[in-house]
Amino acid sequence: MSRGESAAWQEAYHSDALKRRRETTYARKLRRLGLDAPAPGTRTLDIACGSGEALQTLAATGYGDLHGLDLDAPQTTGPEPFRRTLGDGGRLPFAAGAFDQVLCLHALHHFRSLDHIGELLAESRRVLKPSGALLLIDHFDSCYLRAIFRLMQIRCPLYPAAVRHFGDQLRDEREIVAWWLANWRALFGLVDASGLRVERCTRGLFFFYMRCTPVL
Ligand SMILES: C[S@@+](CC[C@H](N)C(=O)[O-])C[C@H]1O[C@@H](n2cnc3c(N)ncnc32)[C@H](O)[C@@H]1O
Repeated sequence: MSRGESAAWQEAYHSDALKRRRETTYARKLRRLGLDAPAPGTRTLDIACGSGEALQTLAATGYGDLHGLDLDAPQTTGPEPFRRTLGDGGRLPFAAGAFDQVLCLHALHHFRSLDHIGELLAESRRVLKPSGALLLIDHFDSCYLRAIFRLMQIRCPLYPAAVRHFGDQLRDEREIVAWWLANWRALFGLVDASGLRVERCTRGLFFFYMRCTPVL
């Protein structure tokens, strides 16, 4: 049973078209975060891992010791190249200093409040080794993004399947996306307050790519 997102959202997110899209775009996104050269023994946690394509891509790149945590698990999965834990990213069931890298990709806005994102960041800082890094991808506000999102929410049979399913997701989560776009800049203050610092933040058309490291 789903504990986080609605049934309509889950159906769109797990559609074959969006799954294929995630499988083909993650290699580029993870390269952009600097995750293309695995060091031996690197231990990775992906918070809000969803159906796990980021971890599958890391496994294909040569990373081992991969862990995923999410409120929900997909209803059907084959064998996965990572260890899956059900749980809340704001209360991680892992020991302090357990991971070399923690990821949270396309999911900050799903935490639905700045307080909950603050808990996620504080927990990420706690489970990171002093030499570790937290890597984040999410939307940032721009006129371009707002216009594209408005177009994508129109039900149009001429759109490719991936766009139609993404539009379904957007319609379902439009309130949290609107909230996030109005508030995403608060992330910088929350990162500081959690004992991390933003080491690098670059932007593409749709997403920012952020690397944060522990303040020692
Ligand atoms: C847009 S999906 C992103 C999934 C994955 N990171 C990806 O890029 O495909 C958002 C995910 O956040 C998860 N989620 C929402 N709130 C959460 C929480 N408090 N703790 C853990 N996972 C959460 C949802 O179950 C969903 O799988």
